[in-house]
Amino acid sequence: SPDKEPPKPGDRLVHAETEAELSLADVPLGGPPVLAYPKDPQADLVKKGDVNNLLLVTRFNPDELDEETRPHAADGVVVYSAVCTHLGCTVSQWESEKAWFLCPCHKGLYDPKQNAKVVGGPPPRPLPALPVRLEGDRIVVDGEFTGPVGVVAGRGDCRTCT
Ligand code: FES
Repeated sequence: SPDKEPPKPGDRLVHAETEAELSLADVPLGGPPVLAYPKDPQADLVKKGDVNNLLLVTRFNPDELDEETRPHAADGVVVYSAVCTHLGCTVSQWESEKAWFLCPCHKGLYDPKQNAKVVGGPPPRPLPALPVRLEGDRIVVDGEFTGPVGVVAGRGDCRTCT
């Protein structure tokens, strides 16, 4: 069904709960992330039928983003899949001291300023980024995920967690 379609360029990001369109001011500088879904503005459809469309929207000072991260970002806004690459939990927590994403299931840690590379715990690979641009102050999808979303078969087996 159309609400399961993956994000596509031109989609707007909306707050996962309220479905209000996100503008720059809705995303706190330095975290925590805002959970969001893509919305097809023509069809007026929020694509929340697939958990793989759940997104983490963060905003930093652009200077804090590394070379790999900056190309997907817009004015310091950088967006990642919220689906843990370990076993697929929602990466719902925030380690505020380090500004890292924290997956509550087995304490996977990802650094959003370094292209969501794994900085702790069992995840086998980074969270894929979703490139964005700004239209006015709205956050708009500008490309496809930089890698597969969630668990890749054969890579998600738990070796280090208990
Ligand atoms: Fe996220 Fe295991 S599912 S760390």
